[in-house]
Amino acid sequence: MDISDIISGTKGLNITDRLCILSFALSMKKEDVLIKKEMRLNQEDVELIKSLIEKRTQGMPLAYITKTKEFYSEEFYVDESVLIPRPETELLVEEAIHIIKGMNGPVRILDVGTGSGVIGITISKHTGHRVICTDISSEALKIASINIKRAGLSDKIGLICMDLIAGIKDRTVYDVIVANLPYISQDEWDFVSEEVKGFEPKTALFGGKDGLEVYRRFIDALQGPLKDNGWFLCEVGGRLQAEAIKDMLVRKGFEVSIKRDYSGIERIVIGQWISLS
Ligand SMILES: C[S@@+](CC[C@H](N)C(=O)[O-])C[C@H]1O[C@@H](n2cnc3c(N)ncnc32)[C@H](O)[C@@H]1O
Repeated sequence: MDISDIISGTKGLNITDRLCILSFALSMKKEDVLIKKEMRLNQEDVELIKSLIEKRTQGMPLAYITKTKEFYSEEFYVDESVLIPRPETELLVEEAIHIIKGMNGPVRILDVGTGSGVIGITISKHTGHRVICTDISSEALKIASINIKRAGLSDKIGLICMDLIAGIKDRTVYDVIVANLPYISQDEWDFVSEEVKGFEPKTALFGGKDGLEVYRRFIDALQGPLKDNGWFLCEVGGRLQAEAIKDMLVRKGFEVSIKRDYSGIERIVIGQWISLS
């Protein structure tokens, strides 16, 4: 069997999936897979490729098969213990980087619900500042740790396993707190694709009845670790959630703006705590 047999013989998978699987299994660039179509495959490679194709046919996301997802033009390691980073989250990171670059002196940054670490790692890489990344899942933090090492940022990024910010006892420590916490509501859950529901961790996605249960608890506790005039940025699932989070923050004395994603959906809530003291 050669590469072209796999490319032409795999029913039900699109060409991108086939090429990605071949490139991953054979450790070859996608262009080379196409150039070397006549290359004979040994039995071991054929079996590996068939098992990966089978997984993809059963709905496993490509990122979990190839253990890689691109985010902010960098490759990150992912597996089923973490959410596959989404393109919308790049907007959250972009806004955070913009704010941080406008600040003077060392900026202390917290990334809550870090998952694979993409937010904290990208912010640290592009601003040069230290970041503390937290998650309730110790399995997720193992993946974040792999990505931090790969990015060469072990001296810049710390990891803490905890429920939201429950373990942070010091007050007014952070200049910027960033979070992409679970926000899918009970009603929306029924419409989530099987590819997501069946493979990605529910703790990374499901935000309770209205989707805001985790954020509500978080915002209640936010003014402990956040400095006066500090910033809070988070990702949400659309207009209703963005408005609800805005209300929660305004009631606590934040000035708030909402940014839409490239599909026009209200996606990022940005608040600055204007302290009156
Ligand atoms: C939507 S995922 C985001 C992952 C990553 N930040 C990203 O943007 O790709 C939410 C993350 O929050 C974590 N999480 C859920 N509940 C949490 C809690 N109570 N405290 C801390 N982390 C939590 C999940 O384990 C998951 O890694």
